[in-house]
Amino acid sequence: MSRSDGWKLFCIGCGTPASTELPDSTCRKCGDLLEIRLPRDTDGSSLFAGRGPGIWRFRSALPFSQDVEPVSLEEGGTPLVRSRLFAARVGLDNLYAKNDGQNPTGSFKDRGMSVAVTRAKTLGARALICASTGNTAASLAAYAARAGMDAVVVVPKAGVASGKLGQAFAYGAKVFGMEGNFDKALATVFELVRTDDRFYLMNSVNPFRIEGQKIAAFEIYEQLGCVPDCIVLPVGNAGNISAIWKGFKELRGLGLANALPRMIGVQAEGAAPLAEAYRSGRPFKPLKEPNTVASAIRIGNPVSWKKAFSAISESGGGAVVVNDEEIMETKNRLAKEEGLLVEAASAAPFAALTKLKLPQGANVVCIATGNGLKDLSDHGGNQRIVSADGPEAISKAVGTPDLLS
Ligand code: F0G
Repeated sequence: MSRSDGWKLFCIGCGTPASTELPDSTCRKCGDLLEIRLPRDTDGSSLFAGRGPGIWRFRSALPFSQDVEPVSLEEGGTPLVRSRLFAARVGLDNLYAKNDGQNPTGSFKDRGMSVAVTRAKTLGARALICASTGNTAASLAAYAARAGMDAVVVVPKAGVASGKLGQAFAYGAKVFGMEGNFDKALATVFELVRTDDRFYLMNSVNPFRIEGQKIAAFEIYEQLGCVPDCIVLPVGNAGNISAIWKGFKELRGLGLANALPRMIGVQAEGAAPLAEAYRSGRPFKPLKEPNTVASAIRIGNPVSWKKAFSAISESGGGAVVVNDEEIMETKNRLAKEEGLLVEAASAAPFAALTKLKLPQGANVVCIATGNGLKDLSDHGGNQRIVSADGPEAISKAVGTPDLLS
């Protein structure tokens, strides 16, 4: 059996080891982000033989000793759906959607939240806190409830999808709204965690979040039967691109895969500081007023930008920008042509495909990060209902029978 109890924490900037006993997310020496490394002697041979639902079947690659009981809602194990009509439209033969909207709270956040809340429990934390554009808040609220802990979420007062806020309230979180954007909310949360030790930080700077999210790579590898040529995903705070890249690197490091995918990050025009730095070759510069219809990735200062850059450059990937119109058109197409209802941010990678000029036969996986049910505001709701009181009215409204396919 492989072991995962000898894991270590290192700073990604200065390489200094960090204590594994403390709740830190950043290096005490230089302030950069921390990263977990599994023991050198981790044996990958049994990784895919693990049993149980979701991510915890891969617990030999997670930083806990065997006696730790996970806080889990059976997250992960989401479908890898092959695209047909949309794939043909963008000229790809092997396009897949990793449908992470089917996680317990409807987004990819749940894998990482399960692991980070499990960590919080081992630390004896009481109150869990995050800043969020909505999905992290919903996920944290659910896992805190599951663990019997308090959840505090800080969101921009305007622009968070009502479904996501509704989830946070339903799971019993305390929700605070701030003027301004996500970046300001996150800066506030950082400051609070620094000055008030009742709070444990649950944003994706927490390296345990990354450990959970990396499991998506294992799932994709298993479902596809190989490492895909490209992973295309939306980038906001840049945790997920870092995590999935880490997962694929570990698969190769463990001798289970001999290839790596190209990691392609997609940002929305108006909130694309990473893609802008990548395109211009200039140093990364945060954006003050991020603006896009895709509220989940309306972020101007992605904290994990360094990790994201490593993922993109080490993998020979890229960073691409799509505009709001392209995002919304693609979101509607995915629903109408594939039966896949994703939120706006999650449509961004699909919208980017025509710009990427990938070979027709490439194996491409887009991460559908969030469920469209959380935000149906742009579909018109009640206003689009056609009044019809009885069969005749419906027949008449539909028109001739051949109108129905
Ligand atoms: N897609 C969705 C649906 C998201 O909610 C997010 C991030 C991302 C993509 C980007 O992922 O930050 O790891 O690069 N949402 C965060 C939140 C910021 O608060 O829910 P990332």
